[in-house]
Amino acid sequence: MKAITASPYIESPRGLSSSKGRLYIATFGCQMNEYDSQQMAQILSRDYQLATRPEDADVIIVNTCSIREKAENKVYSLVGRFRRLKEEKPDLIIGIGGCVAQQQGKSLFQKAPYVDIVFGPQGVAHLPNLLREAKKGRKPVCFTSQDRDYNIPFVNAPLPEKNPTRAFVTIMQGCNNFCTYCVVPYVRGREVSRPAEDILSEIRMVIQQGVKEITLLGQNVNSYGKGTSSLPSFAELLKDCSRVPGLERLRFTTSHPKDLTRDVMKCFRDLPNLCEHLHLPVQSGSTSVLKHMNRRYTRDDYLRLIDELRMLCPEITLTTDLIVGFPGETEKDFQQTISLLERVQFDQIFAFKYSPRPFTRAAGFSSQVPEDVKSRRLTEVLALQNEIGLRRYQSLEGKTMEVLVEGPNKTRPDELIARTRGNHVVNIPGPDSLTGHLVQVTVEKACYHSLRGKLTSEDESDMREKYGIDSNVCTCDNP
Ligand code: 5AD
Ligand code: SF4
Repeated sequence: MKAITASPYIESPRGLSSSKGRLYIATFGCQMNEYDSQQMAQILSRDYQLATRPEDADVIIVNTCSIREKAENKVYSLVGRFRRLKEEKPDLIIGIGGCVAQQQGKSLFQKAPYVDIVFGPQGVAHLPNLLREAKKGRKPVCFTSQDRDYNIPFVNAPLPEKNPTRAFVTIMQGCNNFCTYCVVPYVRGREVSRPAEDILSEIRMVIQQGVKEITLLGQNVNSYGKGTSSLPSFAELLKDCSRVPGLERLRFTTSHPKDLTRDVMKCFRDLPNLCEHLHLPVQSGSTSVLKHMNRRYTRDDYLRLIDELRMLCPEITLTTDLIVGFPGETEKDFQQTISLLERVQFDQIFAFKYSPRPFTRAAGFSSQVPEDVKSRRLTEVLALQNEIGLRRYQSLEGKTMEVLVEGPNKTRPDELIARTRGNHVVNIPGPDSLTGHLVQVTVEKACYHSLRGKLTSEDESDMREKYGIDSNVCTCDNP
């Protein structure tokens, strides 16, 4: 869970006004939710300044995720904790937004009668009105419709947090794929692509504020513009975005293998600022399971894409999502997932135990896999991936590469967190003032999920002169 904290970019130009209310936003889930929370902060910034603690807030918003049951339960336990605050401060307004809100609707008021507002992802733009209603009538206010046009009624983009280094830009909302395990099409609605001009002007705006890296966001970015003659294809959009002056790095997520075209793959070879990393969720290595998941590609289709990507861009980093214990997954199916991991050699995976979700077809499938089998399979894939990931990271030892410095490492003073174009996190010693800079580092040591490096001698002597930085000693616990 992340709290959006006070940012200089969303305060009023004259600084904080004492007449403003205080807003606390807790965010669960994916990058789409993080983006939505930034939009909430932005559209309420005229009347509210951000509080860093829920205790200080006049309005608390919990932006929720329902992708797996565990994520949903975390939401309930956090919202439950706010009940006490409401008892102490009856004027406090509590809103629940996001996917759990859309999924549960009015029933959330029964579960948690102290909640004032429930609104789905499509309700973000209406938040000022919803708050006004709640303040006036003190009745529960609900906005969970999803059949409205996607328009962005506020021209200002969600602004970057304190260090304007990276920003997300939404290019589409919703999903039409109906993978049989997934709640997203039900809670975020059908696919709607955002006009290209709006995307480009948002990118220009955040670059003016100093952002170096943009990630284009959508549930299935590869189907951007599909079925709409007035919009470019995703590959064309990528090219247009990459040409925006001042954009150092471009990324996108998430992709669906069935919609990944050769034109998009070629962009990794041809666009100098498109970073060499692709997150391509495979979900399973078994064609039969993929069919039951309604993924509409086979194991071989997926492997062909990987081969083609590596041919076009040999240095590309690949990461994936996968689900173990999908209904009907046999031991043989599971071994197909294991062998796919061995064959592809991902740098990182996000693996989940299958979790039955409301509305979804798979929740009604017979042959659900017992919990202990799911747990064993999850442990097995994670153990294998740890070995593979470490080997992949070790292959970078001794290499010099460009990183973008994202900011100080909160747990280790004097250290910075930086990111390679391939999306590896690199810890380097150095001063805060390097935040937002692209620098060259030499990788010294690989850990399980990160690298340790130091500024290359040229950059280092430059930095030593400028900032007086010291040499680095690896303090991580990993081999
Ligand atoms: N159970 C487990 N994992 C799921 N995901 C989506 N729905 C479920 C579910 N019902 C995973 C998929 C997806 C990622 C965001 O979450 O792997 O790619
Ligand atoms: Fe869910 Fe499938 Fe859509 Fe991804 S593509 S959001 S997994 S339905």
